[in-house]
Amino acid sequence: MVHDIEMLKRFYSSFVDRVATSRSNIGHPMTLAEKILYAHLYDVNQTTTFQRGEDYVNFRPDRVAMQDATAQMALLQFMNAGKTKSAVPATVHCDHLIQAYKGAGIDIETATSTNKEVYDFLRDVSSKYGIGFWKPGAGIIHQVVLENYAFPGGMMVGTDSHTPNAGGLGMIAIGVGGADAVDVMTGMEWELKMPKLIGVKLTGKMNGWASPKDVILKLAGILTVKGGTNAIIEYFGEGAASLSATGKATICNMGAEVGATTSVFAYDAQISEYLRATERAEVADMADAIAADLQADPEVYAAPEKYYDRIIEIDLSTLEPYINGPFTPDAACPISEFAAKVIANDYPRKMEVGLIGSCTNSSYQDISRAASVARQAIDQNLKVSSPLIVNPGSERVYQTALRDGMIDTFESVGGTIMANACGPCIGQWKRITDDPTRKNAIVTSFNRNFAKRADGNPNTFAFVASPELTVALTIAGDLCFNPLKDTLTNADGEQVKLAEPQGSNLPAKGFVQGDNGYIAPTGASTEINIDPSSSRLQVLQPFQAWDGNELLNMPLLIKAQGKCTTDHISMAGPWLRFRGHLENISDNMLMGAVNAFNGKTNSVYNRETGEYDAVSAVAKQYKSLDIASIVVAEENYGEGSSREHAAMEPRFLNVRVILAKSFARIHETNLKKQGMLALTFANKDDYNRIQEHDKISIVGLGSFAPGRSLMAILQHEDGTQESFEVLHTYNEQQIGWFRAGSALNSK
Ligand code: F3S
Repeated sequence: MVHDIEMLKRFYSSFVDRVATSRSNIGHPMTLAEKILYAHLYDVNQTTTFQRGEDYVNFRPDRVAMQDATAQMALLQFMNAGKTKSAVPATVHCDHLIQAYKGAGIDIETATSTNKEVYDFLRDVSSKYGIGFWKPGAGIIHQVVLENYAFPGGMMVGTDSHTPNAGGLGMIAIGVGGADAVDVMTGMEWELKMPKLIGVKLTGKMNGWASPKDVILKLAGILTVKGGTNAIIEYFGEGAASLSATGKATICNMGAEVGATTSVFAYDAQISEYLRATERAEVADMADAIAADLQADPEVYAAPEKYYDRIIEIDLSTLEPYINGPFTPDAACPISEFAAKVIANDYPRKMEVGLIGSCTNSSYQDISRAASVARQAIDQNLKVSSPLIVNPGSERVYQTALRDGMIDTFESVGGTIMANACGPCIGQWKRITDDPTRKNAIVTSFNRNFAKRADGNPNTFAFVASPELTVALTIAGDLCFNPLKDTLTNADGEQVKLAEPQGSNLPAKGFVQGDNGYIAPTGASTEINIDPSSSRLQVLQPFQAWDGNELLNMPLLIKAQGKCTTDHISMAGPWLRFRGHLENISDNMLMGAVNAFNGKTNSVYNRETGEYDAVSAVAKQYKSLDIASIVVAEENYGEGSSREHAAMEPRFLNVRVILAKSFARIHETNLKKQGMLALTFANKDDYNRIQEHDKISIVGLGSFAPGRSLMAILQHEDGTQESFEVLHTYNEQQIGWFRAGSALNSK
C-alpha cells in the first residue's frame, strides 16, 4: 500500500464536522463541490462565505501529484524554497518522456538511457524531500493516482491539466503549474478563485456502443473549449450512479477540454467497489461511514437550479457514440452524422492509425470493451485495415489485461503494445509515414487533438472517440464507417456486422498485483547533482523584481491569430527533453502561434534588423539589448495544459505582457506566478488596432490595484498614437508577485 492511511484517518474523522460548520456559516444546503472546498479552507476557523466567480480563497489541499515533464521545473522551484520535506504527501510519475516507437520493452529501455539524467534527478530530489517516485513504465500519472491515491472528499493539485481525472472517485483534483504545487508542498496557502458550479444531471442508463467517453464528448460540444472556465462541473442523477468509477474518471479527465477548473462525482457504490478492488477497503469503509456528506445535500438534488449556476441535462439512454474533431476536442459529432461531416468537409476518409489507452481511457472497462471489438475481427475473419497502438494506463491494468487475454487479442490483430505511458497522447510518437505532407486521419481515445499534438504533423487530422469505437474504425480503416449500422466484408466475402462491445467494470478475478514501479523516499541525506554543462537540467535563477517604472515602448513580438494553446506556446513532443532547462526550452517559444500579419508560424518582424525571424530568436535579441516586448493574442490564450513553461519562457526572454481577448484559467495563473502581466482588452475590437510595427506601452502600474484598469498606448510607425483601456484580474497578493518578479521571489 502506498497511500498515507494515517493522513486519511485524520481527514475522515474531521470531515463531517467541517462540513457542518461550513453549512451553518454559509446558511444554505451545500453541493458536493462546496463541501469539499469549504472543508479544505486554509484557515479552518474562517467563517467567510465566498462569492463564486469573484472571491479568491486560500485552500489547503491534501496531496500533490507531478508528472516528469512538469515535475522538473516544479522541483527546481521547490529546491529554492528552503524546505527539507514536502509538507503534504506528494508523488512524481515518469510517464511523459517515453517515446512510443517499437513497443513497451524496447521503448522503456531507450527512454531509461536517453532520460537517465532527468530520471535520476527526479528520483533523487523526490527521495530527499519525502516525495514518492513512480519509475518509467509504472503508469500514467492520472491512472496511477486513481488506483492508489485519489480518495472521496479529498483535494489534490497536480502539475498536469488532466489531474481532474481523480474526480471520478469524488475528489476535487485541480491541474496547476509547478509554482502552485510548490505553494502546497511548502505548506503555504494555495489560492484559487472560488469557482462557479455547473451541475450536469445524468438521467437514464447507457447502452450499446455508448460509453462514458461519449458523455464528455457530447458535453464538450455543448460547452465548447471555454464553457467550463472558472467552474467546477458536478455530476449527479441516477445516470451518474450507474457509471463505473473509471467511467466517471474519464468524464472528469476531459473536463479539462472545456476549461473546467475540475469535475466531480458523488461517492457511491461504484466508487466504493473500485476502492476495494484496488486494495483500499479501509478507505472505502471510512467513506461509507460518512457517505451522506460525500454527496450534495438532499435539498440540492431536489431543486438543483437553485444551487448551481447552470444546469445541463444529458439522457444516457439515448446517448449516441461521439467522434470529436479535427483539431479541437469540442467539434462534437454523433456517429450517425459523422460520415456526412467527413464528406462535406473533405476530411481524409482513410483512417490511418487507431490509438487507444492514455490517461483518459485506460481502465479495465475500456480495455475489455475495446478488446471485445478486436476479438470480433479474429472470430469473424475480418482483416484489420489500420495499425492499432495501445498505451495502457498502468502496470496493474497491463498485467491484468495480459492475464485475461486482452493483450493477446490486440496483438493478434496487429496491435502494438506501447509502454504504460503517455506516448502519442503527448506527441511522444515516432510515427513512420510514407509522406508527411499528405493529409491523413487518425482516431484516438485520448483527450486532446490540437494540430500536431500526436505526431507533430500539421497534416494529421486527429479525431477523439471511445476506445471501442476507435477499434471499430481501425478495423474498417474508414472514417465513414458506422458500426451501429454498417457492415464490413470479411475474408470470405461475407457481410459482417460488429456486435456491441462487451466488457466489465472490474476484473472478475481481481487485479494482478506485480511490481508496481513505486520507489519510496529515503530522506534528507540524498545528494542532488545538476551538471552545469547539462542540456537537460539547469539550476533556476530568480527573475528580476519589477523596477517600479511603467512598461514603455515595448515592441510587439507577435500578434497571434486564432487558437493559441500551450502547445502553440511551448510545444511538447521533442521539446519535452528540455523541460528542466529553461534556457534551452525557451527556443520553442510561441513557435506554433500564427502571426496575424503574415499568416505564418514562427516568423515575426524583428525591428532591430528589419527582417523576419523565429519568435524566440527575435525575443532573444531584444533581451540581449535589454528591450522588453509584448505578445498580443485572441480568445482563451493558453488553453490546454498546465505547463508553466508556456509562462516561464516569455518571462525568461523578457516578454513582460501578454495582452489577450481572454485567458485559460491555469495559464493566466501561471503568468501571474511568474511575474508577468496578463491583461485583457476592455473592448475586444481593440485587438484590430494593433499594427505590426507598433511599440506598445502599458501605463498605470504606479497605482496597480485590484479592479483598477490599466491603459495601453500604441505608438504606430506613422507617428500616430492610440490608447485604450486594458483589464486585469490581479488581487493584492498577485500584484505582489508582479512587483517581486515572481511568486517564488515573494515567499
Ligand atoms: Fe499523459 Fe496527459 Fe495524455 S497525462 S496520457 S499526456 S492527457
